[in-house]
Amino acid sequence: MRALIFALVLGVSLAQYDPHTKFGRTSIVHLFEWRWADIAEECERYLAPNGFGGVQISPPSESIVLSNPWRPWWERYQPISYNLCSRSGSEDELRDMITRCNNVGVNIYVDAVINHMCGASGGEGKHSSCGSYFNSHKRDFPAVPYSSWDFNDNKCRTGSGDIENYNDIYQVRDCRLVSLLDLALEKDYVRGKVAEYMNKLIDLGVAGFRVDACKHMWPGDMEAVFSRLHHLNTSWFPKNSKPFIYQEVIDLGWEAIKASEYFGLGRVTEFKYSAKLGTVIRKWNGEKMAYLRNWGEGWAFMPTDRAVVFVDNHDNQRGHGAGGASILTFWDPRMYKMATGFMLAHPYGVTRVMSSFRWERYIVDGKDKNDWMGPPSYSDGSTKPVPINPDTTCGDGWVCEHRWRQIRNMVIFRNVVNGQPFSNWWDNGSNQVAFGRGNRGFIVFNNDDWPLDVTLNTGLPAGTYCDVISGQKEGSGCSGKQVTVGVDGRARFTISNMDEDPFFAIHADSKL
Ligand SMILES: *[C@@H]1O[C@H](CO)[C@@H](O)[C@H](O)[C@H]1NC(C)=O
Ligand SMILES: *[C@@H]1O[C@H](CO)[C@@H](O)[C@H](O)[C@H]1NC(C)=O
Repeated sequence: MRALIFALVLGVSLAQYDPHTKFGRTSIVHLFEWRWADIAEECERYLAPNGFGGVQISPPSESIVLSNPWRPWWERYQPISYNLCSRSGSEDELRDMITRCNNVGVNIYVDAVINHMCGASGGEGKHSSCGSYFNSHKRDFPAVPYSSWDFNDNKCRTGSGDIENYNDIYQVRDCRLVSLLDLALEKDYVRGKVAEYMNKLIDLGVAGFRVDACKHMWPGDMEAVFSRLHHLNTSWFPKNSKPFIYQEVIDLGWEAIKASEYFGLGRVTEFKYSAKLGTVIRKWNGEKMAYLRNWGEGWAFMPTDRAVVFVDNHDNQRGHGAGGASILTFWDPRMYKMATGFMLAHPYGVTRVMSSFRWERYIVDGKDKNDWMGPPSYSDGSTKPVPINPDTTCGDGWVCEHRWRQIRNMVIFRNVVNGQPFSNWWDNGSNQVAFGRGNRGFIVFNNDDWPLDVTLNTGLPAGTYCDVISGQKEGSGCSGKQVTVGVDGRARFTISNMDEDPFFAIHADSKL
């Protein structure tokens, strides 16, 4: 019996649902389009010291190179081969980055594009990130190699060959997603090539995968691929650890394909979380923060142990994917910080923080005509490095939300309260809310249009605490606001609705 319990405990912690983060770190940051050399530096100089658990990187596989439009971000979602040279750097740079991040306890998760290759009209030639030849018309990708036998063209039954109806699950899985050549993952050969690619990355030391476009693959085919994956590299991970798998499945509740079909394979991106949290913080559709009392499964989200959550992702921050105009992004910094603070304080799901690049938006009739724009780059198309300013912000168009004090300090808050229950909820029936995490942390929001002045039970031990939103503990001092918790655990909070950041957070490590 004891052996069985031990096996079960071990089984859970070594399974594909566990991000395998180190030292009690809990959050992933998506360094969208960053170069490998910059990620290596960022792991050492910033992510490890500030308690980030891991990085989601952009696809490392060889992709098409497009010039019309000029070098869009989505060219990286059009593979040409599984060679590891991309806009972010070479295989040597990738290996160096994985090693250096692992050595400081920051995991790497690869964005794996395995549903398809490039678009049907990608052309013929060597316009690819490593210069490999391909011919999209002939379905010829000799650098893998894949040929016409390895695609679903004969399986798909729509006239166009593309997905035409999302309520037809056969179309969604067997036809081309916006013309992208759909791989025949039912074939043993294709499964083998995909597993070989993922295993190469596992051996290099990655901790897992964000798997792109899973709705467009049959769960049974994916299972056949995942069953061939190696265990994680024991230089950095416990023996028999399975790669962390989180699957991109957009399920807002009204399509034929459900996120739950993928729960057996790994975690799934919970897009309802992103769309709903934006709606609540914006106070659209009559939503109020008071309704967040039962946030999580109470909002018909997937089970917490299957969810990966985020305020925005690289798709929906520019109007792609799911969620529409309610999605909060760095373009609305005040609300964005509140939403991210709420996410990081709340126990639901594995949290992923977005780190973006700026682009010139050009919104016509509610749609951004520049939604395709790629990362900051030189005239030859190569991606610019991320320069760090003396004040710790990033330059050259890199937004670095993860370096914003409020967001970085809430990443630390989540680590400090890890494992503590959701507790001491309070709300005023409107948009003033507060909650704690056991006796380790407490957060208060004022998203109403009038001041908040209220005495609340924090659950924390008596003492003076430094607010980690307006500042932070520095040595024995505090650069932000302070609050005193009495021996009864109660503290008086005042938050003006005019504050730059109308929320307040304290935790065990911010006690003065
Ligand atoms: C694990 O990583 C180490 C260090 O980079 C490397 O030497 C070793 O070959 C890797 N293991 C496997 C199974 O590839
Ligand atoms: C909360 O909202 C109500 C209106 O719903 C308001 O009267 C009250 O002042 C607000 N603040 C507190 C602390 O209750």
